[in-house]
Order: sequence, then C-alpha cells, then structure tokens
Amino acid sequence: MFKLFKKADKTNKKSTEQQTEFQKIHIKSEDTVPTEVDFIAPTLIRETTPKDLTAEGVNVGDYYVEIGGTTEFARYYRSFYAEITGGSTYAGMFDNLYVGDFGQGSLEADIDIGIHVEPVDTSTELDSVASRIRSIKSDLYREMPDEKREKLKDELYDLEERQRRLRQNLEKAFRASLQIVVSANDLKNVKRFSNLIIRRFAGNQIILRSPDGKQLDAFFNMTPLRDTATYKEHTFSYETSNLADMFPFGHGKISHSSGIIWGRDNLNRPIFYNAWDNSLMNRNAVIMGGSGAGKTNSALRLIHHDIFRGVRHAIICPKGDYRRYVEEMGCPYIDLGEHSPYKINFFDVDIEEQNINGQIVKRVNIESTIAAARTIIYRMIRILDDNVLTGIIKTRIDQKIRELYRDDKKITVDPSSLFELDEDATTISMTPKLKEMPTIGDLYLKLKEDPETKEVAELLKSFTRHGDSPTQAIFDCQSTVRLADTPLFAFGLADLDDEIMKPLGLFISTKWLSTKFSHKDRHIQKRVVVDEAQIPMEDEETARWLENEFRVVRFFNASMVAITQGVEVFARSQYGLGILKNSPTKLFLKQDSIDIDDMQKKFSLTAYEARFLLETAGSGLGILRINEERSIIQVTLSPYEEYLFETDPNKIQAKRDAYYATLRR
Ligand SMILES: Nc1ncnc2c1ncn2[C@@H]1O[C@H](COP(=O)(O)OP(=O)(O)OP(=O)(O)O)[C@@H](O)[C@H]1O
Ligand SMILES: [Mg+2]
Repeated sequence: MFKLFKKADKTNKKSTEQQTEFQKIHIKSEDTVPTEVDFIAPTLIRETTPKDLTAEGVNVGDYYVEIGGTTEFARYYRSFYAEITGGSTYAGMFDNLYVGDFGQGSLEADIDIGIHVEPVDTSTELDSVASRIRSIKSDLYREMPDEKREKLKDELYDLEERQRRLRQNLEKAFRASLQIVVSANDLKNVKRFSNLIIRRFAGNQIILRSPDGKQLDAFFNMTPLRDTATYKEHTFSYETSNLADMFPFGHGKISHSSGIIWGRDNLNRPIFYNAWDNSLMNRNAVIMGGSGAGKTNSALRLIHHDIFRGVRHAIICPKGDYRRYVEEMGCPYIDLGEHSPYKINFFDVDIEEQNINGQIVKRVNIESTIAAARTIIYRMIRILDDNVLTGIIKTRIDQKIRELYRDDKKITVDPSSLFELDEDATTISMTPKLKEMPTIGDLYLKLKEDPETKEVAELLKSFTRHGDSPTQAIFDCQSTVRLADTPLFAFGLADLDDEIMKPLGLFISTKWLSTKFSHKDRHIQKRVVVDEAQIPMEDEETARWLENEFRVVRFFNASMVAITQGVEVFARSQYGLGILKNSPTKLFLKQDSIDIDDMQKKFSLTAYEARFLLETAGSGLGILRINEERSIIQVTLSPYEEYLFETDPNKIQAKRDAYYATLRR
C-alpha cells in the first residue's frame, strides 16, 4: 500500500502540469514488484485538491483523502484538529463525538478520533509559562483598549493558577492534539457531516481546523505507522484533568454482563442488569424520582424483559398505571373493587414444601395462613374500634379461625385434606376437586353465635356479604385467581377509597403476596414491584411488612422493587431506611429541587450527579447505582414498549401511531 503511494508520489514530481489524473497515479506494472500487501491494498490513495474530479466527474471542491478500490467504491476522508478556545474543559465534552450523535438523522458518515499525547517535562513547561507571564506583565504597562487589557489579565490569572498547580505537582503537563476524521463513501455526506460538526463545536467554543494540503499526511497520523503524529500548530498544552476530560471515561460503568438490557449509558453502550448477579447481596431495588420522571416506565422495562427470562412478577399498583400493560399481556389485573372479575380470599391455604427433620415433605401452610388472616381481621376491627381487641378476644378469634379449617372444612396439614372426597364414586378421579375455603363471612357467623365475640362480630360485619357495604365486602368470596398459571399479575387499588379500603387493600394484598407468592417455590425467581411505595410507608403496619420483606425475601429467591416519588418520606421512617439499606440497586431519576440536597447527602452523590438529576435527567434518564458501581442510564424503550407501557392516556394514540409507522417502514 505504502510502496504504491510513494511511487505514485515520485511519478508526480516528474510529471508536467498537463499530465492527466490517470497518468499521475498510474505506474507501469514492470516498475513494480507485487507483494502480498498489494492484493489487499486499495488501488488508489491520494489527496484531492478542490479542482479535482471524482470518478463520476464531479468537482471535489475541497481537500480530502480519496481511497479507491477495485472491488468497491471510493471512500473520502477529511481530518480536523480541535482547538479549545473557551479556556476550560469539562467531563464528557466530546461525548457526542464518541457516540457519533450530532442530530445528523439518516446521514451516513463515520467519525474516527485520535488523541495524540506527549508528556512534557514539568520544568520545561514551567519555563514557558513563566516566560509568557513575563511577557504579559510587560505588555500590561503599555497603553491598550480596556477590552484587550481585561483579556490579558484573565490570561495572566489562568497562567499563574497553572503555574501553581504545576509547581505543587497537582497536575502534570502534556502537549496534546485531538484529531477527528470524518469519512463516508458519498462525498456529499462527508461535506455535510463536516459542516455539521464544525458548527456544533463552534457553539461550544471549540474550533475545528482542517490541515488542508496535508490531509493525506494527517490521515497517516491516525495509523500506527508514524513516529511523530502531531503538528506544532495543532498541538496545545493541557493538564492531566483537561486531558482526562477528552477521553470517554470517568462516567462509571455497570459491570453486569448478563440479564436484561435496562438501558444505555451516555456513550450509548448497553447497560445490562441482572438482579440475580452473584455480586449482589440480594435482588432488591429502589427506583426514586419526582413526578413523571419515568419511574413506572423504567420498572416496566425491567418487568417486561425479566418475564421472558422466567422471572414471575406481582405488582402492587395503587394508581392503576399498570392495568393496560397487564391486560395487554393477557394476565390477571386483580382490581380490588366491587365489580372486578378477579377476587382473592385471604383465607386461602396452599401446599408448600417444608423441611422436616432434613426431609422435604409437602404440607398445607395452615399455620402461616392463620397468622396472616388473624392480623388482617385485627386490622379490620381496629379501623372501626381501637379498644375492643383484648387478649381474650384475640384468643377467641384465633380459636374460631382454627375451627373454620379443622371442624367446618376438615382441612389439616395433610395435602389430601384440601380435596373433596366423593364417597359414592366408584372410580378414582384424575382431577380431584378443591374444597371451598373458609371466608370472612363464615368467621362473622361463628363470632356472632358466641356472646363473648358478638361485639367484634358486629364490627366485622361491614366487611362481609352480611353487611350492607358491597364495596367493603370485596374479600368475602372464594378466590377466582390461580397464581400458578400466570407469569404476571397485579393488584389494582385505584378504585378503593383512600381512607379505609386503600390502606386495608394494600395490607391484605401484601399479606397475601407473602404467603401465596414471595415465600413460596424457592426454585423459582420472582419479583414483587410496589409502585407508589410512599403510600404504604404512611401506614405503620404495611411499612413494617414492606421492610421485613426487603430483608427476608432473598431466602426465598425473590426480589422486591419499591418505587417512590418522595425520597424524603422514605428516609424519614426507620422502615424506609431499612428498605434503602437492603437494596443494592438504586435507580435515581429526575429529582425535585426540594429533595436534592437531602439526597445528595444520604446517597453520597457527587455535585455533578446532583446537578444532573436536577437539571438534565427526565423521561427515564437518570443514574443507576448497583453496589458501588454507577452509570448514567437512559432506560430505552422500543416503539412497541413505548406504546405498551404508556401511562398517560393522552399520549397512547400518538404512541400507537408511532409504533405502527415503524412497522410500515
Ligand atoms: N424511558 C423512557 N423513554 C421515553 N419516554 C419515557 C420514558 N420513561 C417515561 N417516559 C415518558 O414520561 C412519561 C411519564 O412516565 P412514567 O409514568 O413512567 O413516570 P412516573 O415517574 O412513573 O410518573 P408518576 O410520578 O406520575 O407515577 C410517560 O408518559 C412517558 O411517555
Ligand atoms: Mg408512576
């Protein structure tokens, strides 16, 4: 490749002005000795001048490197050197160079970047700084316009600061040159893209200068074939931290290499997240952000992708945001409301594997169900009267619940006791029928019969079909949902009144979730997502449950995800703090200004991170922190996901149209 080029060069020198382009680059074959490299090398490398013509006969109009091949079209390259005139550098200042994003749309062009660095002896650099300081100081004695004087004073200040940093060894000195090469097969694209980046950088006080007449030489500077790859006029003095700002690092990285792609970092690299990664102490996460920051959409991306990896999901949905998604997925959205087709009965027992004396046996989880049901009943009674629950009443309630299973339904720890025995059957049925479960209505009738518990029965009545409040009697039923059949389900609480039923619904669904979902089937990965988690935090009992779940679910191969608007509500309560402590994964989205100072301290955010969360974050853009690793993340959604996850009813139609438009393309 080189040889061909050099010979072409020599031929050029001998040639006269009248020689054609063809003659300029053509060498007689007998003058060359082909080697292996000639078979893979391009047939033509040259620097164009503005007057030159392309193979299509079009005027080139500028200085480019043209590389042609026998089997493919020519490609054009144009180098630029960056000159930072603004005086300061900042982290990420060249990020869109590395990502190749300048809002160029469908324009196809590539960018290659070279940073040529030479360390400079500090004393040499100090000498040159000192000499420039001297010259500015003497200039300042002269008459000059105020504007110029101010400029010189600024420069003097910068130089003295620099002198101090170099003297104290806070920084090291370098000479560096940042080279950018734009290339494309279509010459028009190189021109347009070059203009685009020149304009974009000019806005950031970075001038891109092209080494015209030396384009070919500059092109070789990008290869490892040069010893000295810089030009004095395009090389500038920098300190260590300026140089670091030029590189695509310093933004952290999440090292997971498996799991789902949750989003992309600021360099457009995919961020993998595996809640079951071995490096994590548990599978929990907290998503925090102000209203509309993209919390629900970020959680949905996680849920939607992990479902396909076999993780089963339960969602507690206080606002109804997940209804469309869950129903579109054909899964049960258990609306805790009077008219919902899906019902749950908190007296349901289940068969689970228990380890008894080292042996795994199947047992009915009657004890844990009784304990959960008891707490729910106490809670219902306490809503209406705080004083009736004496020790003796509690014991009676416990006894009556036990009777319901043992005497009325004949249900024991033996799994076969859960099925109806058809006494008259002559054949064995392959699909035995499950017995009906006790209900809160049955308990009410039992308590009513006993004079001692008559009064509490009256209090419970409104939560049963025997009372006159159908909206409060929603738990007096047989369950119509079989969780084993579904990869995903949600409890919807939007229809419940805020005062009595929403806190109660939350409490019941959480109890039910522990016994029927999270604490079962250790071999199955599962996740409970609690959106609007600031609501359960306001209720002592539910907050305690939530915090306990965050501590214990890892023993059951389960993950808890809390999503919250108000970080302050969390950090104020001991339960909230427990949840944060037990969540190695934290996704910070856009924060409200009132929260930020507190957050910065609590989570040791850097000043940059805090500013980013306040000013730049939004729509799924935030900071992901996993253990001590951190990265900027844009949670990415496909057009279909944008449509599927949309929580704003006013945007659904537009998202739907956008999705269908991608299908037609
Ligand atoms: N990753 C994303 N990509 C593109 N748009 C997004 C993304 N995340 C959220 N949005 C947009 O932002 C809006 C708000 O998102 P979302 O409902 O997830 O926020 P939220 O933080 O859960 O809000 P709220 O506080 O009301 O619950 C949505 O309507 C959606 O269009
Ligand atoms: Mg939300």
